[in-house]
Amino acid sequence: MLPPARGSAKTLAMSQKPVAELTEAVAVEELTRLADEIAQHDIRYYQDEAPTISDAEYDALKLRNAELEAAFPHLIRDNSPSLRVGAARSEQFAPVEHGVPMLSLDNAFSDEEALEFEARVRRFLRLEEPVFFTAEPKIDGLSASLRYERGVFVRGATRGDGRVGEDVTANLATLKEIPKRLVGEGWPEVIEIRGEVFLGHEEFAALNASAAAAGQRTYANPRNAASGSLRQIDPKVTAARPLRFFAYAWGYVSSPFAETQWEALQKLKAWGFRITPETRRVEGPGWLLAAYREMEAVRPKLGYDIDGVVYKVDRLDWQQRLGFVSRSPRWAIARKFPAEQARTILEAIDIQVGRTGALTPVARLKPVTVGGVVVVNATLHNADEIARKDVRIGDTVILQRAGDVIPQILGVVPEERPPGAEPYVFPSRCPCPLQTPVARETTASGAETVVRRCTGEFACPFQKLAHLRHFVSRRAFDIEGLGEKQLTAFVQRGWIQEPADIFRLARDEDRLAELRAAEGYGETSVRNLVAGIEARRTIPLDRFIYGLGIRHIGETTAVVMARGYGSAAHFLEAMDKVAARDPAAVEELDAMDQIGQAVIDAAAAYFAEDHNRRMVRNLVAELTILDTEKPKSDTPVAGKTVVFTGSLERMTRDEAKAQAESLGAKVASSVSRKTDLVVAGPGAGSKLKTATELGIQVLTEDEWLALVAG
Ligand code: IVH
Repeated sequence: MLPPARGSAKTLAMSQKPVAELTEAVAVEELTRLADEIAQHDIRYYQDEAPTISDAEYDALKLRNAELEAAFPHLIRDNSPSLRVGAARSEQFAPVEHGVPMLSLDNAFSDEEALEFEARVRRFLRLEEPVFFTAEPKIDGLSASLRYERGVFVRGATRGDGRVGEDVTANLATLKEIPKRLVGEGWPEVIEIRGEVFLGHEEFAALNASAAAAGQRTYANPRNAASGSLRQIDPKVTAARPLRFFAYAWGYVSSPFAETQWEALQKLKAWGFRITPETRRVEGPGWLLAAYREMEAVRPKLGYDIDGVVYKVDRLDWQQRLGFVSRSPRWAIARKFPAEQARTILEAIDIQVGRTGALTPVARLKPVTVGGVVVVNATLHNADEIARKDVRIGDTVILQRAGDVIPQILGVVPEERPPGAEPYVFPSRCPCPLQTPVARETTASGAETVVRRCTGEFACPFQKLAHLRHFVSRRAFDIEGLGEKQLTAFVQRGWIQEPADIFRLARDEDRLAELRAAEGYGETSVRNLVAGIEARRTIPLDRFIYGLGIRHIGETTAVVMARGYGSAAHFLEAMDKVAARDPAAVEELDAMDQIGQAVIDAAAAYFAEDHNRRMVRNLVAELTILDTEKPKSDTPVAGKTVVFTGSLERMTRDEAKAQAESLGAKVASSVSRKTDLVVAGPGAGSKLKTATELGIQVLTEDEWLALVAG
């Protein structure tokens, strides 16, 4: 699946017109669009951990919003993005109200803006003499607040919306760099320590590599990985991730403990926290700029992401006097680094065909180093994106790598377009030898999407190859000795047309003999290949289902279906019925956890196709498919979906979940019409309310224990 269409931000919400030329009516319209757009990106960033625009693009939207608000202050909306920090928190964790709100920082994007900040501070304080500032690296992670009472770590929370965060105490407690008890002396009786949770580059790479190997989703950048790792339901998962923590600020304190930011940082260090070693104390405007340059220079050597420098007025009494404007302090500013960009030549645009026939344009670039990495490819997403950016072969393109795995093409440099470069025409035919026509995909309601698909389906050799590649991939059948190269060669020889052919090949003595004699093969590699194939002749049901490559049926869904059906026979019988839209079979599938209409439609379409049915039948004939153990069925809660909410007093959440699951129940985190039981303890809120509204049975913790005991 392609990521959601991106970039609409630039075309929709932001006009290019100078603010001074805008009429009030146009400004209102643009502010409305900006508010919507930014809110959506906030959700993608903070809640989904899946941003669809780069930080620089996001900053540009916020900047435009701020400019408009400065020019039209009476038009500032109640829900203005400038008044909001972060996005609403998720419901997974209990809410924690911060003793002092966790605010955000204003940004400066140039030397001029940094100098203006310095001058503003002096003007405000009516000072002639230079002011001391700390210059601290701006760590690119997620902020957390740690409450210590009498030196003991009692609660840890995410920032959330700035006022109320999420209680992630158990998860934060697993971090080595977060002291469970403060050491030394002189700490206030109660103090909220603020700092950044983050993941180093090496740890990030290792985490993604093992996630990929285990068939789990990978993270786009270290910040998302840190956020995802911290917001795990199971603290054991967090504990296994090498998250780090730098302390740089504080919230509520029961008594003052320092006179300057610098002194405060030294105290945090003495109490057992890590502080950023690059932090400097500098005096006057020249040194502010020098500190930025210095930070820029050390950035590549740090081993973790920083996205700028934070300047803070050193004297705390002056910070106090400076105070806040809306949600940011007047005494601090973040001087942001520009996202790492480079220019290079677009040498070609290749079209890749996925297993479902989706055509994805890939930019082939003249190799260029961006942020320490040599980049040769970048995604162009889809035809609309190419047209919107008017990217042409031969163009000099601006490439950006903002910690993301896939580099983005921001746009072209029009002055450097070679003469005669023609607009790119997205192919109307599949690049495969059959050159089947391409169709623009429509949604169920008939709306056109950005996806173009090859209409050749099973006939298209590229689609077929992509499909087979999926079949042998690690998370599916994981056939050792049958990599991309071998697979392509066998497909070209006409030996492998469909998955069953792989297993037929393993016992086709004539072909194996031919292979032994072929260049590049030999006795050993053929023996290994046969062993690799034979090892997968017996396969668990979930891998079998996933290997079929049905749209929308990823690994998780495959596991759910395998559990639901138990055996291959049952699965196949049910699929035939779903294809025939048999109401009972559709209902059975729909009732499975997390399965919705998209999966039902995809399964029905797949099994309605004769070609697919034949292919599956041939494959099944070659295999032994292992049953998936069905959850227990003879307990009072077997097959029921249970939600625990509020606080439990006789067991921990983890215990309750494990117990319910061992008795064949499914434990869900949110209440929906698929929920059978809600166990509510003291403090239960919105979930309990929803349950009552939906008429779902609600039990107390004691009633639940009696039920499962009985
Ligand atoms: S001070 C009232 N110091 O940047 C200001 N923030 O945009 C409190 N950050 O939410 C923040 N390094 O997540 C501060 N040395 C540093 C920082 C830092 C990273 C993050 C933090 C904050 C965001 C502000």
